[in-house]
Amino acid sequence: MCGIVGYIGPKDALDLIVAGLERLEYRGYDSSGIAVLQDGRIQVTRAVGKLAELKKTLAEQGPRTPTHIGIGHTRWATHGRPSEINAHPHTAGRVSLIHNGIIENYIPLREKLSKAGSIFKSETDTEIAAHLLNYHLEKGHSPIDALRQTCAEIRGSYAFVALDADHPDRLLIAKNSTPIVVGMTKTELIVASDIPAVLPITRDVLILEDGDLAEVAPGRIYVEHNGKPVERKPQHISWDAVTAQKGGFKHFMLKEIHDQVQMLAEVFRGRIELEKGDVDLGELTLKPDDVRKLNRIVLVACGSAWHAALVTKFYIEHLAGIPCEVDYASELRYRTPVFDRNTLVVAISQSGETADTLGAIELVRNEARTLAFCNVLGSSLTRKVQDVIFTQAGPEISVASTKAFTTQLVVGYLFALYLGKCRGKLAHQQLAGLVEPLVHLPTAVDEALKLNNKIEEVAKQFSQARDFLFLGRGICYPIALEGALKLKEISYIHAEGYPAGEMKHGPIALISDEMPVVVIMHKSDLLFEKTLSNVREAESRGGKIIAITDAGDHPELRKICKAVIEMPHVSELLSPIVLTIPLQLLAYHVAVLNGTDVDLPRNLAKSVTVE
Ligand code: AGP
Repeated sequence: MCGIVGYIGPKDALDLIVAGLERLEYRGYDSSGIAVLQDGRIQVTRAVGKLAELKKTLAEQGPRTPTHIGIGHTRWATHGRPSEINAHPHTAGRVSLIHNGIIENYIPLREKLSKAGSIFKSETDTEIAAHLLNYHLEKGHSPIDALRQTCAEIRGSYAFVALDADHPDRLLIAKNSTPIVVGMTKTELIVASDIPAVLPITRDVLILEDGDLAEVAPGRIYVEHNGKPVERKPQHISWDAVTAQKGGFKHFMLKEIHDQVQMLAEVFRGRIELEKGDVDLGELTLKPDDVRKLNRIVLVACGSAWHAALVTKFYIEHLAGIPCEVDYASELRYRTPVFDRNTLVVAISQSGETADTLGAIELVRNEARTLAFCNVLGSSLTRKVQDVIFTQAGPEISVASTKAFTTQLVVGYLFALYLGKCRGKLAHQQLAGLVEPLVHLPTAVDEALKLNNKIEEVAKQFSQARDFLFLGRGICYPIALEGALKLKEISYIHAEGYPAGEMKHGPIALISDEMPVVVIMHKSDLLFEKTLSNVREAESRGGKIIAITDAGDHPELRKICKAVIEMPHVSELLSPIVLTIPLQLLAYHVAVLNGTDVDLPRNLAKSVTVE
């Protein structure tokens, strides 16, 4: 989730672009850069670290002649570690280009272009696009034709903005799966990955659509969709800048809950081959031979990441048949665990900076093989382990983990498929049948988000409760824990997650009409009927039941529950991802009703970097 800004106009492009990038700072970055056109030459300045580093580098360059066209970028790395050489813009010949997204087929394209004489300097997928566009321009194509040819060869997600030194009056734009907007007045034009950067120039914004290519200049916008010219009508944006950073949502948490539709597609993009029914974790040094030697896997994490570890345990045992344990990092780090080189320790962490998780990995890294699921390239954890699978969730601003959690589950699923494939536990047909459901996940999550109003109504009924109980069985039990954590950490209401089968061993004494009981039930789950009997037990003792299920319109649930949230159906193994969405929304709405600071709840930090 990078930040992109392009500008053409009478003002100094450099200043405008830096100001635009500052408005996109919340999108996170580990490096940044700017390219401007000056006397027909492309001048690029890039820096590692925060935007302040780029500004410092620009200042050190001393006085300069104002320029009127340029592009700028803040990078949230997905391919290639944070470095000056990997920072955007990437330049090839007469082209300079910035990109937000992931190019899946960048390796074959890099080989093809290298054979044609391209020299690559960075480790990024993006650099391929700059060389490919230059290649087509140098063959004599017009800018828009060259852009069309370039995008026809690229597979993946992208928002490209490019400069062509031979056409210094325009910017080239291509959009597929990642956002890009265009603001224009008669004399100025600004392009950005998000609305906040556009507002200082204009409130009338064109939102480009997937498949759109555009050639833009002040007063002149050409857009085509799948090769045919189209007209995109400007929309008037009334938000202030801070609201715009939240995408128009009231809180970052709600924005990030909605981000999941796109991010859940990003996380498996380039890691599955649908036609072949295959999984491809090419980024791993843990090869099939190493996998076959493994005799144990230990998953270690904190908080929501620990809940993700519980679900990943299910996946690994079920799909790969490897014994798997889950440990709190804060516990493991002070024990004397017994590991050997055939033990794989997997650390799960959004930030990659959680002190306890770092401490646990520090303890084991010389005895066991190590791997991390992490969301932040260049974070401390990624430098302590042998392998990393990035969750590609983009920056998560709200303290409550939402998209980071669900993308961790997808990574856990992909990793379990990979392990099962390497160990021959998953025959090709079986693997194909497990890969296919992933492509329906974003749609199912989108459907789940449409239940927002119904969930808000439920929140209104129960927001004054002092205690909540969350129940689930099997693969839904960790989701009950996650739902309880979401609620307690942002609404300050006491909530407990419990295995539904444990109710009769004590917690059922808690049941009263004062305590809502949220039950997560997956229909094809062999445990559905058993959980239903737990619901009957709780209801017969006065419990107020809120059922979250994909069992459709279930007459008995409708009769005994105060509310039934009917969810879209996905495969049993992927159900935890979809069944988490209403729990995130329930916690959010209860917190809003209780007036707590949803994005910055009391006593909490986004990353617990101290013990
Ligand atoms: C979850 O909503 C919390 N913010 C918290 O439990 C978090 O998951 C935990 O601190 C772990 O953080 P990490 O994933 O960055 O390591």
